[in-house]
Amino acid sequence: MAFKIRPYEARDFQAIHRLDQACFPPGISYSKWSMQYFVNLATADCLVAEDEKKIVGFLLAETNPPLAHIITLDVAESHRKRGVGSPPAGNRGAFRVPWDPIGTAGNGSEQ
Ligand SMILES: CC(C)(COP(=O)(O)OP(=O)(O)OC[C@H]1O[C@@H](n2cnc3c(N)ncnc32)[C@H](O)[C@@H]1OP(=O)(O)O)[C@@H](O)C(=O)NCCC(=O)NCCS
Repeated sequence: MAFKIRPYEARDFQAIHRLDQACFPPGISYSKWSMQYFVNLATADCLVAEDEKKIVGFLLAETNPPLAHIITLDVAESHRKRGVGSPPAGNRGAFRVPWDPIGTAGNGSEQ
């Protein structure tokens, strides 16, 4: 599968918010407000994965070099297990990290 990784743009907001709602149950997924808050942080770094112009995944992180905190990493169910969640080092650094869905996501309980 050919997918492209590119930086988030403001027009992607609805798509990433919908994807987060699909990836996590209510109470764990981020509210619009929380998601806006995080993407607008000066320290936020957000990348989206596109397949045929459709957003099929995104990584939202808060950077504090040399560290980064992954706020959320979401891949559409239809596109999982194909490497979207682990782009190779060189795209923007190695995003392949051991993750814990509960530990790294979901302090935005508002819907
Ligand atoms: C976790 C997620 C991002 C993986 O995306 P993906 O595109 O399927 O991942 P990739 O195909 O790039 O990589 C799959 C690898 O991730 C591992 N993986 C998948 N889900 C995992 C999890 N919950 N915990 C640990 N490892 C996991 C797989 O075992 C596989 O490793 P391997 O290649 O060594 O076998 C995706 O399943 C998802 O969006 N899940 C719902 C949201 C979520 O839990 N996000 C993570 C916390 S914020």
